[in-house]
Amino acid sequence: MSTEPDRWTAVDAYFTELLTPADPALTAALQESEAAGLPAINVAPNQGKLLHLLAQLQGAHRILEIGTLGGYSTIWLARALPADGHLLTLEYSPEHAGVARANLARAGLDKITEVRTGPALDSLAALHAESPAPFDLVFIDADKVNNPHYVEWALKLTRPGSLIIVDNVVRGGHVTDADSDDPGIQGTRAALELIASHPKLDGTAVQTVGTKGYDGFALARVLD
Ligand code: SAH
Ligand code: DHB
Ligand code: MG
Repeated sequence: MSTEPDRWTAVDAYFTELLTPADPALTAALQESEAAGLPAINVAPNQGKLLHLLAQLQGAHRILEIGTLGGYSTIWLARALPADGHLLTLEYSPEHAGVARANLARAGLDKITEVRTGPALDSLAALHAESPAPFDLVFIDADKVNNPHYVEWALKLTRPGSLIIVDNVVRGGHVTDADSDDPGIQGTRAALELIASHPKLDGTAVQTVGTKGYDGFALARVLD
């Protein structure tokens, strides 16, 4: 454990073995994602468990996820739902969506989950036009440049008391680069500024270290 990242990884391994032990459906989801050539940018197991616990604490019946990848975080979130719950997850890539659907079916979650393909901004506009029942939790984890737009859509699709979570708000510390030429950093900064200034949002942000490096997430509660 000569470097800090090694230490973070060792602690994550300890926490994960102790608190989120290997599970066939989750293990298969990661194996099949890797076999299909998907990038390993899923949340870590202990972060997935955090999403699961937050969804349970929220008493969530309806969850919206933006950015599915192979459905790893989707499985953690959907497992928090009651039998009559529903999770909708939005994914740009038909290939990623196909891997996710197979992973969700293997996990026995295909009845309560739906993967919609296409650019999430289009899917969100179409979804809003359907006047769906409000979502209790929204997990934003797609292209970071659109994060402020995703927060705006989340506000339209939730209710007072709903929880909005934004992943990857630290990015190795680059979030503080106000002049960054990375559109993802600018998108994330705009989302954080929206959470800070919007009268219907009350939020915070937390830094994380571990197997996924140095990053973090923002949490915001929708107010009356
Ligand atoms: N939530 C997943 C990781 C998502 S990675 C997990 O933790 O397991 C980000 C995903 O967002 C990728 O699959 C990428 O294809 C998708 N994505 C990128 N841009 C998008 C867009 N404009 N609309 C919808 N999905 C998008
Ligand atoms: C990336 C995206 C993610 O959602 C993540 O959790 C980590 C990395 C990426 O695009 O590099
Ligand atoms: Mg992410």
